Amino acid sequence: MSCSVQGVSDLDHKRISRMRRWLLCLFAFLAVAGFGFAGARANDPSKTVGPNACAECHKQEVEAWKGSHHYGTFREMPRNAKGKQIAKQLGVRRIKSESLCLGCHFTVQHNEGNETPVSGISCESCHGAGKEWIKLHSGFSGKTAKTETKAEAQARWRLAEGKGMIRPDALYRLARNCFGCHVVPNEELVNKGGHRAGSAIELLSWSQGEVRHNTWSSKGKENAQASAERRRMLYIIGLGVDLETALRSLAKATQRKVYAFEMAMRADRARKRIAEAARAVPDVPEIAKLVEVAYSAGLKLNNEQALSAAADGVSRLVADLAEHHDGAKLTGLDRLIPGPDKYKGSARKAAAIN
Ligand code: HEC
Ligand code: HEC
Ligand code: HEC
Ligand code: HEC
Repeated sequence: MSCSVQGVSDLDHKRISRMRRWLLCLFAFLAVAGFGFAGARANDPSKTVGPNACAECHKQEVEAWKGSHHYGTFREMPRNAKGKQIAKQLGVRRIKSESLCLGCHFTVQHNEGNETPVSGISCESCHGAGKEWIKLHSGFSGKTAKTETKAEAQARWRLAEGKGMIRPDALYRLARNCFGCHVVPNEELVNKGGHRAGSAIELLSWSQGEVRHNTWSSKGKENAQASAERRRMLYIIGLGVDLETALRSLAKATQRKVYAFEMAMRADRARKRIAEAARAVPDVPEIAKLVEVAYSAGLKLNNEQALSAAADGVSRLVADLAEHHDGAKLTGLDRLIPGPDKYKGSARKAAAIN
């Protein structure tokens, strides 16, 4: 049996036994019992206003969203046979009132003391719960788009971000949020429930297909793909955050089972791609350093300290990269990044709505 590490994206249950054998190969045997539901990501339901509140001004964006899996999951997931199976394995009675599932599959709002799912994955799942910034972000500092000064606009955006808004420009935060759901950091949910350990998500291609709603800046005239510079940034930031998330998830693994295996594969895949990127843009110190940190921790069980330290290192470097680069100098990445034929789902064409 060889120990070669192969890319595994979608979890195929028939392959589990084969995976277990690989695991024996990958990890030294160290059984540690005891796990819990850790760290499902969630927006604060007491600050959620729901997508209808955004629709008042963002009709185009809402129409684009309605064509996505993020929208459809609200109705479809609880009826899905696989969903029922996962719930049964975990002793979950009603998916729509199980906070573990709610955090990743729905938008949840406080409603007369209860936490009620109001839609699928919606605007605030990605841009942050809106109650404290919805008026602020669109208010032009009490003036109009024409009379507000640049300094006032900057202060307004800073304030909105301070109140939890995730703007498209805040690439690192934006990406962390996607991977917070698309990598599933719950060992029991995966090993016992049979839930996937995560998606085969790549940030550039997964944000430019069915998810795309770049309709605001063109006033609804078009739903253009991100600029070439931004595409490079989405690609490299996405890889960094993929790696960071996988390292953190692996650090928490306790069982030599599918969860640990998948997270190790995920981290390995991401760091290989980052190494490839570093060769393509050899003059970017943050990316070179990223490779070093990526290989500083063994991808194995009971290695929490080294894995967490590596994840923290990756986090700092990716945040630096997002802050100090705009993609203009990263032309070398163009031969690596996925083109439109790889975009996940199709982007909605902008249509005159308003
Ligand atoms: C009253 C109208 C209005 C509502 C309601 C509204 N927006 Fe906006 N939104 C705006 C305006 C106006 C801008 C552009 C402001 C500017 O260009 O300075 C904007 C810009 C944005 C941007 C782009 C920010 C950037 O960095 O350029 C995002 C993202 C956004 N809104 C999300 C939302 C979400 C999510 C909701 C619901 C929680 C929402 N908006 C509700 C009017 C609104
Ligand atoms: C950390 C986030 C997270 C949590 C927690 C979570 N899910 Fe998921 N779930 C996802 C993501 C992301 C996908 C999409 C995976 C993909 O790309 O195919 C998914 C997919 C699914 C699917 C479709 C799977 C398939 O194989 O077709 C079902 C059903 C499902 N989840 C049920 C549940 C249930 C039930 C719970 C609660 C017990 C739950 N999920 C908790 C993130 C999560
Ligand atoms: C899956 C996560 C996600 C969801 C859901 C989502 N957005 Fe976005 N939003 C993004 C990303 C990512 C970008 C930047 C896209 C890019 O760079 O191509 C963005 C960009 C925007 C922009 C700026 C567009 C432009 O033309 O510059 C606005 C406005 C916006 N979103 C509003 C909304 C509203 C309103 C909703 C709900 C109907 C929503 N978003 C749902 C992730 C999301
Ligand atoms: C709140 C959790 C959450 C966040 C945040 C989130 N997603 Fe998702 N996403 C999901 C789940 C769950 C599914 C599966 C929905 C289904 O099919 O039932 C999904 C599905 C998708 C799909 C469709 C996949 C397919 O199999 O066709 C794409 C593309 C996608 N997400 C991209 C993104 C991107 C890009 C971001 C960040 C800008 C993002 N998502 C943020 C939870 C999330």
